[in-house]
Amino acid sequence: MTKSLFIKTYGCQMNVYDSTRMADVLAPLGYRTIETPEDADMVILNTCHIREKAAEKVFSELGRLKTLQKRKARSGGRMILAVAGCVAQAEGAEIMARAPHVDIVLGPQTYHRLPEMVAAASRAAGRVLDTEFPAEAKFDHLPETAAPQGVSAFLTIQEGCDKFCTFCVVPYTRGAEFSRPAAQVIAEARHLVASGAREITLLGQNVNAYHGAAPEGGIWGLGRLLRSLAAMPGLLRLRYTTSHPRDVDDELVAAHRELPMVMPFLHLPVQSGSDRVLAAMNRGHTAADYLRTLERLRAARPDIAFSSDFIVGHPGESEVDFLATLALVREARYAQAFSFKYSPRPGTPAASAEDQVPEPLKAERLRRLQELLEAQQRAFNLSQVGKTLPVLLEKPGRHPGQLVGRSPYLQPVHVLAPQRLIGALLPLLIRGAEPNSLAGEHLESAA
Ligand code: SAH
Ligand code: SF4
Ligand code: F3S
Repeated sequence: MTKSLFIKTYGCQMNVYDSTRMADVLAPLGYRTIETPEDADMVILNTCHIREKAAEKVFSELGRLKTLQKRKARSGGRMILAVAGCVAQAEGAEIMARAPHVDIVLGPQTYHRLPEMVAAASRAAGRVLDTEFPAEAKFDHLPETAAPQGVSAFLTIQEGCDKFCTFCVVPYTRGAEFSRPAAQVIAEARHLVASGAREITLLGQNVNAYHGAAPEGGIWGLGRLLRSLAAMPGLLRLRYTTSHPRDVDDELVAAHRELPMVMPFLHLPVQSGSDRVLAAMNRGHTAADYLRTLERLRAARPDIAFSSDFIVGHPGESEVDFLATLALVREARYAQAFSFKYSPRPGTPAASAEDQVPEPLKAERLRRLQELLEAQQRAFNLSQVGKTLPVLLEKPGRHPGQLVGRSPYLQPVHVLAPQRLIGALLPLLIRGAEPNSLAGEHLESAA
């Protein structure tokens, strides 16, 4: 008998990947994913704890789901409700206490045990809390079969973090750094390509800290792994995210120099441009170190573009520190970036610092920073107009006859082209630029 499963995903790409894998784990039990929660037999919220707002959303969504769950019960059915991901890991006990209608709470390291949890929850109508960091790696227990992810697929190669930036919950929610063996990564990549993927994005909280067991003994870093994957027939593009500025080694720079299919776009979060704040954050590098890393990559791959994350109003950040961030942005010249107000996370060192920055000041700095970042993004998009860019066509667009693809720089590109070209990598003439997308024209006929 088939049952319906709705998964709502919050947070980073790793959660997106985890959601696809949870669906794979539940498929043998008869669960098929659906697009809305209304009549689902099971709902999983795959949650994010990175900022306060992200966590709050989960509790309000749980409230809405209670109504659906009751309605389902009135019609004689049952909706199993599970909370997964980083809020589950950080606040598992509190969720159990505050939301008695939640059946299962599971952390990011236990989703391979979902079938047992579902069985336990349905059998006794009991509740399950599983937020252990099990000794055995979940990756060894995931099914080999996976539902196709489409033209562009995610593949987690590294998880967890040992860096302990003072503001960040990830080392607590995802646990210690762990790299999957290279052979396991290659096998999964082969499977993704066989099911239609043309682009693979390798994922990790610190993806370039990757140090996986090599197929024939020894250890591979990310550069070496990219080199191996680049030889895979049928695979057209490789990306990886998120990188840490401290872990950009020469082998990785060489991969950018020598492998055209490694896309010339790198998300390399710096957080702040002030050495004082970077030290307080425990980032382990200075602004100058970071800018030098950008230069090394630009020298290796002149067409490379960068994106970053920023936090404004970290405890102790002064106006002078903030101005140093603006100065770094001007020097770095970003194609795109994310910026956030510092949000104190329970249990992290920065949350208990005395010198918290007042909320209105954070808001004002965020506005000033975003003004600059948006101007850089507009300028970058406009600089593509008139160029011919290779675009990987991913799916139908919003208008009839239209497809959407991605440029090397991850910009969505809209183009009039027939459906059969989904999955093709085509040179498109860029005719126009919007703040968040490009308009392309298909010149060469794709034989
Ligand atoms: N591993 C990545 C970041 C993962 S979290 C890295 O090392 O850069 C994604 C982004 O969320 C971070 O880059 C940071 O900009 C933001 N972030 C993390 N904790 C935050 C907090 N407490 N308040 C505001 N933003 C935060
Ligand atoms: Fe968080 Fe820092 Fe680890 Fe990134 S490197 S996940 S910001 S602790
Ligand atoms: Fe959020 Fe966890 Fe990812 S806190 S950003 S879902 S690692």
